[in-house]
Order: sequence, then C-alpha cells, then structure tokens
Amino acid sequence: MKIVHTIKELQGELLNYTSGGKTVGFVPTMGALHAGHISLVKYSVNENDVTVVSIFVNPTQFNDKEDLKKYPRTSEADCRLLEPVGVDYVFAPSVEEMYPVPDIREFSYPPLDTVMEGAHRPGHFNGVCQIVSKLFDAVKPNRAYFGEKDFQQLAIIREMVRRMRYDIDIVGCPIVREEDGLAMSSRNTRLSVKERENALKISQTLLKSRNFAGSYSVYELQRFVEEAIADAPGLQLEYFAIVDGNTLQTVERWDASDYVVGCITVFCGDVRLIDNVKYKEL
Ligand code: PAF
Repeated sequence: MKIVHTIKELQGELLNYTSGGKTVGFVPTMGALHAGHISLVKYSVNENDVTVVSIFVNPTQFNDKEDLKKYPRTSEADCRLLEPVGVDYVFAPSVEEMYPVPDIREFSYPPLDTVMEGAHRPGHFNGVCQIVSKLFDAVKPNRAYFGEKDFQQLAIIREMVRRMRYDIDIVGCPIVREEDGLAMSSRNTRLSVKERENALKISQTLLKSRNFAGSYSVYELQRFVEEAIADAPGLQLEYFAIVDGNTLQTVERWDASDYVVGCITVFCGDVRLIDNVKYKEL
C-alpha cells in the first residue's frame, strides 16, 4: 500500500494500471475509519484491479466550523486498517492540493438537496459535490463506493454523476451496524459512555418501526418514531422524514412509492447522528 499526497503522483501511479485496461475502484473518506468504511473497501477490492482510498477532511462541507475542528483525525490508525484489506493507494492530499484557489462552483440539485440534511446544513451538499467531483477528476475511477448511511448524499452524488456525465459506476453499500444496532459512524467516538447508551435508542426505534410499516399509516409510524425519540433520555430529534427513496420527497401513503425510506437525525449531547431504515424496496 502506497500513500500519496499529490494528484500528479497519484495519476502517474494509476496510469501504470489504466493504460493496461485495469479497473480502478475508489472509496472517498474523511478518515476516522471504522468497519463501515472497511466494508466499502472490501467491495472495491473484490470488484476492481486497483483500489484507491482517499482520506481528506473536506473543509467546504462543514457548515459548522466547530464540527470541522472536532472532526477526529486518525490517519496512522486509518492506514493500519487499510493495509491488510488490500488497498493499493491511500490518497491523502493537503487542503492546498485540493483547493489551490477557493472553489466557487455551485452544485444545486433541487429537490434532492433542499430537504432533510440539505435544509438543516446549508451549503453541506455543495461542499460534498465540490470535493467529490475534484476527487473523481483526480482518481478517474471506474467505480466509486458510498455508504447508504448517508442516504441523501448517495442520491445527490448519483444525480451529480448523471448530470456531469461522469463515466463512473456509483455503488451504494448497506449500513454497517455495531453488534447492538447503532449505525457505525466516525462521530460515535465522540460519544461519552452514557451518550453511547442513549444513542442506541435511535437504531432500536427505527428497526422496531419497520415491524409496523404494514399495519400503521405513514402518519402513525411518523408519530411512533417521533414519540419514542422524544421520550428517550439524552436525545433531541432534529427530523424524521419518511421519503421516497429516489426523489427524497416525503410520502403520505405507503402506496405512493415502491421505495420508502425513513431518515432520521438526532442530537445525542452535541453529537449529531444520522441513520435510516428501508420500509419498502422493490
Ligand atoms: O461521506 C463522507 O465521508 C464525505 O462526505 C465524503 C464523501 C468523503 C466527501 O468528503
């Protein structure tokens, strides 16, 4: 596994493979890696000749500068996790390498980016699209792997790829959960022991709510989740939305779509956690 810091060096290395027709799989990350990231890497290693993992804490996607400061940076531990699973290149650029000048491009994909995270984190998806497009231009992968935990991000990246005509296959990979059900997240390391205990109620509520999808109306299910989180100690609901999995617009009836997903964001202390569950899928 080789660690490279510049686009020029990365592209020089990858040319050795792509000129011979080999395929490149890409897993973009912000580091602080956990088993969820490693599962994306394993998909890439299985499906491609070469795998590149980027580690870059992208400043333009943090609407809250305190959050950017607190974001865990653990690059040595990250590399120790990546080497044994067969990663070929870690691309770890500096901020200056990715943003030699401020990126003034605006990415806007309404209504996908105006709801949920888009409504609560102004500018977040613009920043995500800025960096992901720059990384795609640098790596030029055949396939790129994203977790379904960031369900809205995945939908927006698919849309960006479609509109910008990137010839990249976007592969969505299932959420990886801790043994007790909590969705894996780099932010989980910021939870105190008590908060970690409280946070469990998020996945428990979502997974339980799946059992009621047949019998409750959408409205009743919405109330069930909202009330369960309101009653849980130490949790503050930001939103819970039951949406069409393609358009991300809320549905009012189960028969409004063949693909229905419940997306939630909850503050556990000052740690903002997201999760989702599929109620209906083709
Ligand atoms: O999902 C993430 O970790 C980030 O949003 C991404 C895709 C690596 C872009 O910085």
